[in-house]
Amino acid sequence: MRNLLSLEALTGADLRAILDRVAAFKRDRATHARPLAGQTWALIFSKSSTRTRVSFEVGLRELGAEVLFLNANDIQLGRGEPIKDTARVLGRMIHGAVIRTFAQSDVEEFAAHAKIPTVNALTDDEHPCQILTDIFTYEERTGTLITGKTVTFVGDAACNVPVSWLWAAARLGFHLRLAAPKTYWPAEAVIRRASAGSPVPWTGHHEAPTVERIMIGCGTLELFTDVGLAARQADLLYTDVWVSMGKESESAQRIEDLAGYQINADLVERAKPGALVMHCLPAYRGKEIDEATFEAHADTIFTEAENRLHVQKSIVDWMVR
Ligand code: CP
Ligand code: NVA
Repeated sequence: MRNLLSLEALTGADLRAILDRVAAFKRDRATHARPLAGQTWALIFSKSSTRTRVSFEVGLRELGAEVLFLNANDIQLGRGEPIKDTARVLGRMIHGAVIRTFAQSDVEEFAAHAKIPTVNALTDDEHPCQILTDIFTYEERTGTLITGKTVTFVGDAACNVPVSWLWAAARLGFHLRLAAPKTYWPAEAVIRRASAGSPVPWTGHHEAPTVERIMIGCGTLELFTDVGLAARQADLLYTDVWVSMGKESESAQRIEDLAGYQINADLVERAKPGALVMHCLPAYRGKEIDEATFEAHADTIFTEAENRLHVQKSIVDWMVR
């Protein structure tokens, strides 16, 4: 039995073991095995969701499970029952859990006490199912491995999505560039953990005129404030909302701070010819991406959304195998 609580906790071999089986789940959607037959899984969500909720509900059913959707506010958890008590109750009744919440420690605590396979379906720290899907989609569409490629993330580089990208780069060996104002770069503790053990461990930010380069695992992290430089010769341009769930009270400040950190035609022009443009969705046109660029790359972006279903089946299959 395994959990998927973060990409930080996985090895490169774990990521490859999950990614390698996705194509078969996608191809054999109607006929693949049903390893969860006879099981009941619960989705416990404290934040809104379209893609994650639907792809897990459909995917778990197609793997043979019955599925319960529990809005965290509708169960006693929302009235203050401790997570470890909720976990010990559910752990005796259900076979697996998919959790979307705020604190990473809540998912970890649930898994420790429920002792059933537990998936992080987004916390403030990580969104592992999304980034596994993004990597599968990149490799599916280009026919090449992401290892050695250059991925440029534009926008709020401190939130869950870029942080999961950072761990993926460290584990799979690609170049991740983050373009954001310095106050929207990932937390120093995250960079320090990712760089620990590399030949040149990171010791703190320095005043780089253009870019700060950091060794992380078998990949590299480059921190930019200049979005145009970050996009040069990139294989993939990627963005996420400027205002993540839970940060709504900071909306006005974030829109002011992140103005310009947008994927648009000018930025695409700087990337490699044929570079992919991806977005985890939901998208806010005119903020992190403009309408024309979004629509020009809609086929990639909605394939990425569909692939959540296929990738998460492979994740759950890997967990229960
Ligand atoms: N990308 C993603 O996780 O979407 P939802 O918030 O709709 O689940
Ligand atoms: N960073 C975003 C991702 C949404 C899928 C959020 O946390 O709201």
